Amino acid sequence: MDYLEIKGGNPLHGEVRISGSKNAVLPILAATLLTEEQCVIRGIPDLSDVKHMVKILEALGASVELTADSITVEARQLTPIGDYDIIRKMRGSVCIMGPLLGRLHEAKVSMPGGCVIGARPINLHLWGFRSLGAEIDLKEGYVIAKAPELKGRSIFMGGRNGSTVLGTANVMMAAVLAKGETVIEYAACEPEIKDLADFLVKMGANIKGAGSPTIRIRGVEKLHGAEHTVIPDRVEAATYAMAAAATDGEVTLLNTEPAHLQAIFHQLYQANVSCTVRGKEVTIRRKGPLKPLSVATQPYPGYPTDAQAQLMALMTQASGISIITERIFESRFMHVPELGRLGARIELEGVSAIVEGGFELQGAHVMSSDLRASAALVIAGLVAKSTTIIARIYHLDRGYEKMDVKLRKLGADISRWNTDSNYPNYRPIPSSLALTDE
Ligand code: EPU
Repeated sequence: MDYLEIKGGNPLHGEVRISGSKNAVLPILAATLLTEEQCVIRGIPDLSDVKHMVKILEALGASVELTADSITVEARQLTPIGDYDIIRKMRGSVCIMGPLLGRLHEAKVSMPGGCVIGARPINLHLWGFRSLGAEIDLKEGYVIAKAPELKGRSIFMGGRNGSTVLGTANVMMAAVLAKGETVIEYAACEPEIKDLADFLVKMGANIKGAGSPTIRIRGVEKLHGAEHTVIPDRVEAATYAMAAAATDGEVTLLNTEPAHLQAIFHQLYQANVSCTVRGKEVTIRRKGPLKPLSVATQPYPGYPTDAQAQLMALMTQASGISIITERIFESRFMHVPELGRLGARIELEGVSAIVEGGFELQGAHVMSSDLRASAALVIAGLVAKSTTIIARIYHLDRGYEKMDVKLRKLGADISRWNTDSNYPNYRPIPSSLALTDE
């Protein structure tokens, strides 16, 4: 198992290339199941979640070929039954249901459980499928959806916490092959939904309004193969922006889509950080001492939940009180006690974290709990005095392409070690983490 060692204190300087978006590529790979023809997806990030999705597609019968940054999928013959164990390990895999239902009129997929960031129900996905005419059964841990015929209609997809990203993706992918018109109201407006719709349109789908709260889909008989390059990862860009600001460095993000980063730029401006945009590049640098913020996470175009933990790490460096409220996932605060080990002063009050910033962080041994929490620990480790060790970084590798390599190029003192003596980068984990690093 890999872990990271960071010797903090180096300001980050230089350029970093942002990879393709994890949350765009996962539903796009699922969408390739909608046709028996060949699809080529480019700009693929090298992530364990992507490799996991490839396994899921292969287990369903698709032939998949991976090159350095592209994936070719040909799903000539498919089974509607997803492999229980492979699917339940990644929440994002729920988005194979829509394509299976659309193309095969049937899907049997393991019920995704909750995870450390919250309960993560799929009631809205199922509501959408039922509205299109599917019958849904929950049996022995599986969701079984069947629909001899899918019929378009108007579906309101708003839930307790607003819109649902993968729910919108799932219903959109089922509806492209339904009879008649489907209107998704209160659709998620995230850029990843727009990117998925762009790909589906290239495959022959008829979709209008993706990226807005109302999406209109006119079903077609059949989809064909297509080629597509995924959008840059806005959360990865936000993470490097926070790391640059936290370390008081100057970093240019290459291959970004600045239009997708407005909420991030807005908060960084308020925190006294400049974000200078030139085409697809953005340079991040502090204008002076960091200022505290009051931020609440919201669906797009609001401040993203996926960049909440990283902002909290940044706010430990802003003198004064910051309030960070999490409105999407109720338990997405697993990073708080670990940041506390590094000396951060953070108290939780319901769904808000109150950060008393401006104090020096000290290196410590900490544990990753989920993807974005891990990124927050990396940022904190980069500013902390002395050495920070972060265990369980398989969480980080799910969604950040070669983060240690990218940070090293920016001047960070960061190394990756493996606890298994068969690996060239073998080094036993410090005893303080050994017992729990299983
Ligand atoms: N919700 C329901 N019912 C549903 C579905 C969702 O009540 O049927 C609630 C959720 O509990 C949550 C809110 O709706 O409170 C929004 O959840 P959403 O469905 O939008 O989340 P998701 O689609 O499962 C994707 C990303 C997450 C990201 C969220 C929100 C992927 C693979 N995952 O999840 O990404 O946090 O949208 O933007 O696209 C991450 O990358 O670290 C990550 C967790």
